[in-house]
Amino acid sequence: MRMRMKKHFTERLEACAHLLCEKPDEPITTSEYHFGWEGDIYLEIGCGKGGFAVQFAAANPAVCFYAMERVANVMVNAVERAEREKDTRPDNLRFIIGSAENLEEWFAPATLDAIFLNFSGPWPKKRNAKRRLTHRAFLARYFRLLKEDGMLYFKTDNDNLFDFTLEELSAMGCTPSYVTRDLHNSPFRVGNIMTEYETNFVSQGKNINALAVSPLKRVYRTHDGDPSLNPAEQG
Ligand SMILES: C[S@@+](CC[C@H](N)C(=O)[O-])C[C@H]1O[C@@H](n2cnc3c(N)ncnc32)[C@H](O)[C@@H]1O
Repeated sequence: MRMRMKKHFTERLEACAHLLCEKPDEPITTSEYHFGWEGDIYLEIGCGKGGFAVQFAAANPAVCFYAMERVANVMVNAVERAEREKDTRPDNLRFIIGSAENLEEWFAPATLDAIFLNFSGPWPKKRNAKRRLTHRAFLARYFRLLKEDGMLYFKTDNDNLFDFTLEELSAMGCTPSYVTRDLHNSPFRVGNIMTEYETNFVSQGKNINALAVSPLKRVYRTHDGDPSLNPAEQG
């Protein structure tokens, strides 16, 4: 089904162009490039309407927050919200219209302090498993872009996608720092910022799964893992 273009879409995006990032000539190594000052770099992939990004950046003024979304027609809501709230929040939020498939064009290895994946599409059919944003090929690239002590945070209503993600992490020899099947009734709810999808699912009584994992917590396997994921076997 073709997505209906929002009214005056181009003009609306242009009015907020100062919040949108142009792709750098080289992958960035520092937040100075887009923000003009140096801070820890956090990235949300698939920010949708931007509720999480706007609230998280406002609550964490020392962080430089990038919100990435591949559908510009959806992103316009996020950028407009950030613009509406600009007088009440720090200037630490920028938007990238782009796809996780092209992350390496934006960020150099070991540059990111945190990555958030919130309610990523589940791609339920097995033949589409490689499209899931927690497929091991995506996880491997996140771990390359994160600093050693960086952290990947993942939240989803989808129990099957969560199981799949845990299996992928296990196959890569990664141990999450925490795992919960019921974020809102767990100690990890402290400081949790709800996304638009999360608000909707919680109102329906759906449990929210969440985990965090750091590249540091990776135990490289020498025999039964995928050798392409194991630097020790790449010579
Ligand atoms: C289910 S929505 C969740 C939106 C938001 N994170 C929330 O929780 O309310 C998933 C979003 O991820 C975006 N998305 C999916 N695949 C992506 C990719 N490869 N790169 C960037 N964004 C992607 C979709 O366009 C969509 O807006």
